[in-house]
Amino acid sequence: MAQQTPMAKSESTSDTVTLVDNATGKRFELPVLGGSEGPRVIDIRSLYGETGMFTYDPGFTSTASCDSQITFIDGDDGILRHRGYPIEDLAENCDFLEVAHMLLFGELPDRATYEKFAHDITYHTMVHEQLLYFYRGFRRDAHPMAIMVGVVGALSAFYHDSTDISDPHQCMVASYRLIAKMPTIAAMAFKYPMGQPFMYPRNDLSYAENFLYMTFAVPAEEYHISPVLARAMERILILHADHEQNASTSTVRLAGSSAANPFACIAAGIASLWGPAHGGANEAVLDMLTEIGSKDQIGEFINRAKDKDDPFRLMGFGHRVYKNYDPRAAVLRKSAHEVLDELGVKDEPLLELALELERIALEDDYFVEKKLFPNVDFYSGIILRAMGFPNSMFTVLFALARTVGWVAQWNEMIQDPTQRIGRPRQLYTGETKRDFVPMDQR
Ligand code: ACO
Repeated sequence: MAQQTPMAKSESTSDTVTLVDNATGKRFELPVLGGSEGPRVIDIRSLYGETGMFTYDPGFTSTASCDSQITFIDGDDGILRHRGYPIEDLAENCDFLEVAHMLLFGELPDRATYEKFAHDITYHTMVHEQLLYFYRGFRRDAHPMAIMVGVVGALSAFYHDSTDISDPHQCMVASYRLIAKMPTIAAMAFKYPMGQPFMYPRNDLSYAENFLYMTFAVPAEEYHISPVLARAMERILILHADHEQNASTSTVRLAGSSAANPFACIAAGIASLWGPAHGGANEAVLDMLTEIGSKDQIGEFINRAKDKDDPFRLMGFGHRVYKNYDPRAAVLRKSAHEVLDELGVKDEPLLELALELERIALEDDYFVEKKLFPNVDFYSGIILRAMGFPNSMFTVLFALARTVGWVAQWNEMIQDPTQRIGRPRQLYTGETKRDFVPMDQR
């Protein structure tokens, strides 16, 4: 279990940029760093010390918060690669645990390594029996993401022996536990609101099959795992496994930068993922398609999305990084029909509606000019619905898949010798010093 993640590295180039303070005429040289591909970065670590100024970048649109060797995105060309491998190849040829191993350790595993990894993950899928009582504290109508945030955070109260981040072995045990137990926890979050009994994991099943089994099986009868469902699940897990320094991953890194324990960090990531601007969008897409209802209503909703005075946005459209078709959406778009056909779902009206909405939006000047394309959430909800998941589980599935990315990024961060606590500064715009006024004089 004690394999190490390769260390992240960036290289200083001979380039510099010169910053001129027009107020004082002073010039400052700042080094430029280059990665293996992607934009170069200006190293501003000495900026405040030398100039007394901060940079200002709300939303971090121009800020690289770390260096990383895990995932590369070229948003203009719609490219996503993990450890150098194109996402399309991984989605087509791998199972989820192969991808998980590669994200965590840097390489696709050979057969023997894969079997050992799969065994170690499989044999950590059960959760502490006391955790079952923890679920009972939630209301039955709780959103499963609320349960996920609470239960994953609570793991630190159940697994004390893997919370010491100065011990590499404990870090790896926590990483395996998180990847292994997340399907069990997610399936339990599905069962609890319905009042169905929890299903224990089975060691003869693959990662994706086991999750489907724990979710859809009941003790009263035999559950047949459809290979079509298992393959679709596998693909969805791979497509969501990691995505560079997005909001939830940055949240995990920031939480972890204070040396918080790994379970607490991943719970923080789940909380961030929940929002409709991030992982919650797949649930919002289905709500939106249901609200649109029929093809003749599409025009009205497109107009609302373009209206600056209307807060409505086309959910599943647009992305901070992709100014081209999200490559994950392209894979899912292709598999949507395939999966629906194989599942025997004929003429799914929401898929027809989604395809028509996409066609109209992609021809509309507003969406073309702003480079707004479908993102991964646009098609995932339709497939998940056809597989039998309720809308409220969509983001949970995203969290389940992304756990391996969070864990890989967290490991990379804590092994980086240059890592320090994440502590952004601010542009203060509040009151300057004023005199205190006692309450009876205000
Ligand atoms: N519908 C209508 N207009 C949009 C949309 C949309 N879905 N997305 C962006 N725009 C417009 C904005 O109004 C803005 O217009 P302006 O320049 O005239 O003010 C412009 O496009 C740029 O949008 P920003 O919000 O500034 O871009 P940002 O990078 O901050 O936001 C985000 C990206 C949050 C994904 C945004 O596109 C959005 O809200 N999309 C819908 C939610 C969604 O699908 N989220 C999933 C993201 S992918 C993921 O997490 C897996």
